[in-house]
Amino acid sequence: MIKNYLLAPGPTPVPPRVALAMAQPIIHHRTPQFSRIFAEAQHGLKRLFQTEQDVLMLAASGTGAMESAITNLFSPGDEVLVINGGKFGERWGKIATAYGLTPTEVRVPWGAGVRVDEVRAVLDRQPGIRGVCVQASETSTAAVHPIEDLAALTRERDVLLIVDGITAVGVFDLPMDRWGIDVLITGSQKALMLPPGLAFIALSERAWERSATARLPRFYFDLARERAALAQHTSAWTPAISLVLGLRESLAMLFEEGLPRVFDRHARLAAATRAAGRALGLQLVAPEVPSPALTGLYTPSTVDGGKLVAYLRDCMGVTFAGGQDHLKGKIVRIAHLGYMGVFDTLTAIAAFEMALRRFGHNVPLGCGVGAAQEALMAALPE
Ligand SMILES: Cc1ncc(COP(=O)(O)O)c(C=O)c1O
Repeated sequence: MIKNYLLAPGPTPVPPRVALAMAQPIIHHRTPQFSRIFAEAQHGLKRLFQTEQDVLMLAASGTGAMESAITNLFSPGDEVLVINGGKFGERWGKIATAYGLTPTEVRVPWGAGVRVDEVRAVLDRQPGIRGVCVQASETSTAAVHPIEDLAALTRERDVLLIVDGITAVGVFDLPMDRWGIDVLITGSQKALMLPPGLAFIALSERAWERSATARLPRFYFDLARERAALAQHTSAWTPAISLVLGLRESLAMLFEEGLPRVFDRHARLAAATRAAGRALGLQLVAPEVPSPALTGLYTPSTVDGGKLVAYLRDCMGVTFAGGQDHLKGKIVRIAHLGYMGVFDTLTAIAAFEMALRRFGHNVPLGCGVGAAQEALMAALPE
């Protein structure tokens, strides 16, 4: 038997409590019973997003919510600024182009965060820009972008800040209302510890005002229609009922732990993994702005990272993510977000060391694990 450990940055493991909640018999969604559950989940989502606004639930993966942000907020030909520091930043550009917008890209070297002065310069040069699309955590490079500083820039102009928080919401502090984020998005299969299938999106007051005049076509992802349904404690279309049952449970788990502790846990696991990487003599993909959601490490030049990831998965039962595009075969990405604790991280590092040895890289076994254990000692109770 090979026991499996899902340590990739989404989908993430589902806690037994959440799995059991989702195993309940299906109830009908146009009933007071479901409306109660829906309302409870809504209450929790607002706390999670740190917003007074409605948080809409879509039966889609995260990309569905990204697409809905574009179609609900813009009109054909509108100029948007897309921050492209990896695969998901690139996706903003692709969606905008597919819908006939005029995107301007700020390209960021992979593994870096965008420079705010560069964004300011583009906004000054192109006053027609109506929105900035960015990732809070760019999962393909394990880097974060400076959302608070970007929000300070966009707040003072008629420019919406649209944040893909798919590996950020519930991972680290991202207070939507306090910072003035206009659109915040996440998906179920990340920090929310659910299977894929739900996407979440909240809009600021001024984003709702913009949506009223935006002219791109929309139907399934009509956010105003979804908001009107939510006011009746229901959804516009048949909701993913089982996932909503699981969501209520996963939100309860997050609030039992307390958001500050959840954020600390992610930060600690990430710091321990970085310490292990240093002890193993490996370079970080995002040394300046590492995401607490996941850690990207370059594999040694003598090791094919793609084969290493496949070996870890198929022969050791440990699933990491590899690299994409020009990082394909060159990095591993180890997740910390969601239902992850100290011993998931130690398992990840132990398996990584053993696989590196198996691929001929001569690391002393235990040196990464030891460094991570040292870093994690502080987290143990007295
Ligand atoms: C930052 C980020 N944005 C967007 C997506 C796309 O989400 P989905 O695959 O749920 O459509 C992902 C998925 O990993 C992601 O990490």
